[in-house]
Amino acid sequence: MTCVIENLDEMKAWSRRLPLEDRNLGFVPTMGYLHEGHLALVRESKKICRQTVVSIFVNPMQFGPTEDYAHYPVDLERDRALLKELDVDVLFLPKKEDLYPGGFCTSVRVAGLTENLCGGSRPHFFEGVTTIVLKLFHLVQPDRAFFGEKDRQQLGVIRKMVRDLNMGITIEGRPTIREPDGIAMSSRNAYLAPEERQSARALYLALQSGKALIEKGERSADAVRTHMRSIIESHPRTRIDYVSVCDPERFTELERVEDSALLALAVHVGRARLIDNCLVENISCSASC
Ligand code: PAF
Repeated sequence: MTCVIENLDEMKAWSRRLPLEDRNLGFVPTMGYLHEGHLALVRESKKICRQTVVSIFVNPMQFGPTEDYAHYPVDLERDRALLKELDVDVLFLPKKEDLYPGGFCTSVRVAGLTENLCGGSRPHFFEGVTTIVLKLFHLVQPDRAFFGEKDRQQLGVIRKMVRDLNMGITIEGRPTIREPDGIAMSSRNAYLAPEERQSARALYLALQSGKALIEKGERSADAVRTHMRSIIESHPRTRIDYVSVCDPERFTELERVEDSALLALAVHVGRARLIDNCLVENISCSASC
């Protein structure tokens, strides 16, 4: 039976009541408008944890003033029904005024990993993410937390925060879930008109083609970036935010592709800003997107 908790103290109290022996509480933080990517994380948590908490909170702190906070898609009724079907233990629905009361002035910044890629074009973003994730971790007190690899930089930043702050929470990353035509599942796909959806395939096609180029022996990161750019630019209605061939741990641009590389993209399609990535490892052997 899924219990809905809105109150912050109640959430803490619920978690504290769990028996200490064999404690294994899984947590999936989300901004709602759930899709198969979120549901796969919930199923994973249900599989390996004793209890599962899912939070839904559209976090204003991770949106810039001109971004889509006010229009972020919401369908709480549908989300509740999906989570009930998966039989999660708690749906946590904190309120903005409780999480960010008047006078709130604290933030968490993971320096070094947050300046490039999404951090370059959305300078407020990671500070907003790490601050809310830290607050949610304090409230839910999970043993494990689940995040999708579509947001691979976010995953790396959260792992680093947890390590640096000795939080003792295991961060579980899980592969990107894709539509049959390759498009990465994202709540923001809801913004796409039918013809824009066709253009949105550019991200997946560029990543696949960039990976193939590396597998054929290309070692110049610039050549791979240029190649991926040209694929995206050949699709109408696209505007590139960034095209990156970077170090998968540090998110700094590479000059040469040696053992491993992260191919990462952010592209505006219509009013949606979409991101996707592909990790290329053991360069001569394999790659996983
Ligand atoms: O990935 C997301 O949906 C959000 O960035 C998160 C982790 C729920 C924090 O608001």
